[in-house]
Amino acid sequence: MSNRFEGKVALVVGGANADEDRLLGFAGLSALKIARDGGKVVIGDIDDEAGTRSVQKMKSAGLTADYVHMDVTNEDDWQVAVDKTVGLHGRLDIMIMAAGIPDRGETIDSTEVDTWRRVMDVTNLGMFLGTRAVIEPMRRSSGGSIVLISSMMARVVRDGANAYATSRAGMTHFARSAAVQYGADNIRVNTVLPGWTLTPFTANAFDDEWSERLAKRVPLGRVADASDIAGPILFLASDESKYVTGSELLADGGVTAWIGPMD
Ligand SMILES: NC(=O)c1ccc[n+]([C@@H]2O[C@H](COP(=O)([O-])OP(=O)(O)OC[C@H]3O[C@@H](n4cnc5c(N)ncnc54)[C@H](O)[C@@H]3O)[C@@H](O)[C@H]2O)c1
Repeated sequence: MSNRFEGKVALVVGGANADEDRLLGFAGLSALKIARDGGKVVIGDIDDEAGTRSVQKMKSAGLTADYVHMDVTNEDDWQVAVDKTVGLHGRLDIMIMAAGIPDRGETIDSTEVDTWRRVMDVTNLGMFLGTRAVIEPMRRSSGGSIVLISSMMARVVRDGANAYATSRAGMTHFARSAAVQYGADNIRVNTVLPGWTLTPFTANAFDDEWSERLAKRVPLGRVADASDIAGPILFLASDESKYVTGSELLADGGVTAWIGPMD
């Protein structure tokens, strides 16, 4: 434990999986670590059961954490979450936006319009509404850090999952745009691009056999766990990255650096 988040207030969206007795999500673990390192945390999510349980455990451990129900595609929900955070703690310094949904890997010609819209809404409308909602409170706090959780799929594509990959690529440019617009307010905006990570998001797909197959495509030789991704997120959330903005932090174990095995 350190005190690197002492005095900081964080809204962690998509962070419901912060219960160490269960499989952690990486935003969930980031919320837990911010609170352990002296910060005050509000977790926003649609998964009220997981979010409430996580926050109860954090409170029992003496940490400062609260939960708010919010759907990132809903403008009013963002306002409620920001008002709650500022109402409880008087400021807002960090916003992590990790809400995401998969698109089941369809090809373009088999993707339903509703699927396309929903994936785009959760990722791209969500990041826009969230960033817009936190700018003013961050200005009042003399600056802040917005960390948008993207994916290595922002850089590379596979033979499907077009909505997912396209929405993630959009995050990169949005972060650059927001970084330029709000640099003068000392508000930094960056993306983290995780690779294959075992979390509640992937638990159904990543059984042992599939994880072993994926691991062969990873130069570091294994799929990630939540701690592998929380580190980069917390670096960008903290003052350790105080001159970093408009950047992408790739945390994929080397997958996108590699052309693949030569045999
Ligand atoms: N796990 C991976 O391999 C991987 C790799 C790259 C990127 N990602 C992305 O990272 C992010 C975090 O995922 P994770 O792997 O830590 O899993 P996770 O399941 O812990 O996190 C995703 C969270 O988003 C929440 N959510 C979904 N739709 C929402 C909405 N409309 N409003 C509010 N919350 C909503 C879910 O309830 C869940 O708590 C996701 O955006 C995911 O796409 C995951």
